[in-house]
Amino acid sequence: MSQNHTVTSLTAEQVMRERHSVRQYKRDVVIPEETLNEILELAAAAPSSWNLQQWRFLVIRNQEQKDFVRPIAYGQQQVSDASAVVVILGDLQAHLTGREIYDEMLAAGKLPQEVRDNMVAQIEGAYSYEQVARDEANKNAGLAAMQLMLAAKAKGYDTVAMGGFDKAKLVEALNIPDRFIPVMMIAIGEAASPGRPTGRLPLSKLVIHETF
Ligand SMILES: Cc1cc2nc3c(=O)[nH]c(=O)nc-3n(C[C@H](O)[C@H](O)[C@H](O)COP(=O)(O)O)c2cc1C
Repeated sequence: MSQNHTVTSLTAEQVMRERHSVRQYKRDVVIPEETLNEILELAAAAPSSWNLQQWRFLVIRNQEQKDFVRPIAYGQQQVSDASAVVVILGDLQAHLTGREIYDEMLAAGKLPQEVRDNMVAQIEGAYSYEQVARDEANKNAGLAAMQLMLAAKAKGYDTVAMGGFDKAKLVEALNIPDRFIPVMMIAIGEAASPGRPTGRLPLSKLVIHETF
């Protein structure tokens, strides 16, 4: 943490309006472990299909490791300079978590056997399709990624999401098991210069009422 890291309390609306991608970070700022864990916990509070929590967070804080990953992200400077880079992974075999979750709920008496069996059969049926597993991994990990960026903002840190990296090289470099796919990388830290507001399409272009 830099000595003058200040956190002003922001409303949810301010967090959403004031989050902008930051690509220039103060180097050598350490986010306290406790704060980083809070941010990750908030990210993990995101909703997910069947509550399978198809995300994992590969956290890179070590300077050498950030510098090692930077060329894989096509040299993006923020990978080296930000306090942490979190690789958001999507789980291609989240049905395995499904069994665990619903077995625990059954054991705790939170649902009857029949409901547990139905849920597990439904999940395993869906995950027998490779494309479904991949879509679910990307979709749900994306929700956690967004929540992570907002949580970081609420705690006074800035972020930038990055899709610009060589997935195959990252998998190899970080020994990511087959079960997981890298969905995006997020740099987190203290802005050296603020992110600038970017334009958005007007609602008139974005919203379709009732039907096309
Ligand atoms: C999935 C995704 C991938 C992105 N990849 C990159 C990237 O590789 N490098 C980068 O500098 N910005 C990247 N961005 C940031 C976008 O450029 C940025 O979110 C967009 O221009 C809107 O600006 P804002 O985030 O400040 O609102 C990415 C954003 C998302 C959501």
